[in-house]
Amino acid sequence: MSDLTKMFDLTNRTALVTGAGQGMGTGVAEMLAAQGAHVLVNDLDDTRAEPVAQQLRQSGYQAEALAFDVTDLAAVRAAIADRPIDILVNNAGNAGSERMRPRPFAETEPAEWAAPLAVNLDGVMNCTHTVLPGMIDRGWGRVIGVVSGAGTQGVHIGVAAYSAGKGGAAALLRSVALEVARKGVTVNSIALGLMDNTGGSDVTSGLAKTIPTGRLGTPHDLGALCAYLASDEASWMTAQTIPLAGGSITS
Ligand SMILES: NC(=O)c1ccc[n+]([C@@H]2O[C@H](COP(=O)([O-])OP(=O)(O)OC[C@H]3O[C@@H](n4cnc5c(N)ncnc54)[C@H](O)[C@@H]3O)[C@@H](O)[C@H]2O)c1
Repeated sequence: MSDLTKMFDLTNRTALVTGAGQGMGTGVAEMLAAQGAHVLVNDLDDTRAEPVAQQLRQSGYQAEALAFDVTDLAAVRAAIADRPIDILVNNAGNAGSERMRPRPFAETEPAEWAAPLAVNLDGVMNCTHTVLPGMIDRGWGRVIGVVSGAGTQGVHIGVAAYSAGKGGAAALLRSVALEVARKGVTVNSIALGLMDNTGGSDVTSGLAKTIPTGRLGTPHDLGALCAYLASDEASWMTAQTIPLAGGSITS
C-alpha cells in the first residue's frame, strides 16, 4: 500500500465502501481510511473483502470486512441497518457477479438486462435507502455514487443496459440529494471515464492515447475525489454528477 496523504479529516466517521474487494473500491477504501475514517470494506466476495480490510489494519488504519450482496435488500438491511454509517460510497457495479458481455442492445436477450440494472441501480437504492434515515437523524451524511460516462452520455461500446443502470443511479441520487439537502446530508455521483485496475498494461497504454490527459484514471484518482466529497469541506457540494475522466468527458 502506498503512502497516502491526509487531505481531509474523517476521524470518527464510519464509511461503507461497496465492492471494495478490488479495483476502484479498494482505492477508495484506502483513501478514506487514510483520512481517519473507520472503513467497512464490503464485497460480494468475502475472500476479496477480508484481505483488503486486513491490509488496511496492517497499515495502521481502522477497517473491517463486511461481505454482502448489494442487490439483496434483506442482506443489506441485515448487515448495515443497525450501524451508524456516515459515508456511503456506492461503488459496486459493472456486471455484478457476472462478466461484462458487450453486445449491441438489439442482439441482447431481455434476461440479460436484469443483472446490470440490479447491481448498478437496485444496489444503489438498497444501500442508500438503508443508511439515509440514520444520516438524517444524526444531521450529517455523505452519499457518493460511482457511476460512469456511459451513464451520462451515449456510448457505442455495447453496454446499453449498464448505461441505463448507471444513468438511473445518477438520476436517483440527484433527486435524493434535493430531498435531504437541509438535513446535513450531501449526495453526489462521480462519472468515471476509463480507469486502469492493472497498474499499467499494454492494453491500457493503448487506450491511454485516447484520453486527453494521456493516461487512464486510477483508484487513487477516485479515492481523492471521494475523500473531498466525504469531508466537512464539501458541505455545499450536492446533487452533482461530477465527471472524473482525464478530460474525456466535458461538462
Ligand atoms: N473500471 C472502469 O474503467 C470503470 C469505468 C467507469 C465506471 N466504473 C465503475 O466503477 C466501479 C468500480 O469499478 P471496478 O473497475 O473497480 O470494478 P471491478 O469489477 O474490478 O470490481 C467491482 C467489485 O465489486 C464487487 N461486486 C460486484 N457485484 C457486487 C454486489 N452485488 N455486491 C457487492 N459487491 C459486488 C465485485 O466482487 C468486485 O470486487 C463500478 O461501479 C464500475 O461500474 C468503472
